[in-house]
Amino acid sequence: MPNRVRPNHARPLRRRPLLHGLLVTFAGLSGLAPARPVRSARPELLVRFSHVVTPDTPKGRMALHFRQLVAQRSAGRIRVEVYPDSELYGDEDEFEALKLGAVELLAPSLSKFGQAGLPEFEVFDLPFLFDDLAQVRRVTQGPVGRRLLDRLARQQMVGLGFMDSGFKQMSANRPLRALADFKGLRLRVQASRVLVAQMRALGAEPVVLPFGETRSALASGVVDGAENPLSNFLTQGLDGAQTDLTLTRHGYLGYAVVSHPRFWDSLSAADQALLRQALTEAIEFGNRLSAELDRQALEQVRRLPRLRVHELSPAQRAELQRTAQAVQLGFERRVGAGLLAEVRGAIAPTTAAGD
Ligand code: SIN
Repeated sequence: MPNRVRPNHARPLRRRPLLHGLLVTFAGLSGLAPARPVRSARPELLVRFSHVVTPDTPKGRMALHFRQLVAQRSAGRIRVEVYPDSELYGDEDEFEALKLGAVELLAPSLSKFGQAGLPEFEVFDLPFLFDDLAQVRRVTQGPVGRRLLDRLARQQMVGLGFMDSGFKQMSANRPLRALADFKGLRLRVQASRVLVAQMRALGAEPVVLPFGETRSALASGVVDGAENPLSNFLTQGLDGAQTDLTLTRHGYLGYAVVSHPRFWDSLSAADQALLRQALTEAIEFGNRLSAELDRQALEQVRRLPRLRVHELSPAQRAELQRTAQAVQLGFERRVGAGLLAEVRGAIAPTTAAGD
């Protein structure tokens, strides 16, 4: 067992393998059904991959797919052990665990890199910045994304790739369609200053909590609501703690897969190439899943008997967007005006070039 920096004891009250059936269906359709793991009695290299979501989310499945590819391609010489669900480390200690060499791979959400000394990653948190995943990919898969991955070196990390979770929706025990609905609500956010500002601008009180504590905080009334992509909402069983889900699609959630230079530089060039290639393919697999699952999860939440699902009217969306613009202006300095301009240019290349 790897050394523990600080075990995460916070457990949600109920988890549900809600997306499992959908995932199996999709994996079967795409010919990517899990194969038998290849195990060597004596792996020469152990890669511990810790993350905070359940194994049946897009990120959880990406990690398992990566494990399978590495086992096959190294004939069991390299073993990837995946620790999901904050079972080894949670938001509070995973960066420290990586630094101390207690794990070799993490895939934190981009919102969590600000607390690790990389506030520019919070650009992805700016509300209503992206309309769709194609826009996000023009940033993450192009020169801006490569530069951001390179900047991870500043905080002793090796950036290996970006992955999508999806767009976030708001949940609470009331609809959240207009600014007045947010007033006085305590809403859980990740440790990102942009997300804190976003909730304040909406009139709510932001409460920063680790992901692994969100379900119990909602169930006990410590917080009143949260923002999540549907895969996290369902797999954390948040529909059991919230009566209303509003389809705001107001912000993006994505991940960066990172390692530590001490580990990464100790690998042979061939092993680095094997791991990089496997990770690239696993991320492509995870991205296909996240887009498909989001569509399926939307149908699923609409069918849940106790959950009321609300849409925004164009006027309501416009009101929330106006609030978002103020957050974008306020955060130019934190994320960097130059970076924000580059991101905007990548989102709308023709407009930027033509103007
Ligand atoms: C994750 O998807 O890794 C967790 C995101 C969150 O903390 O809300």
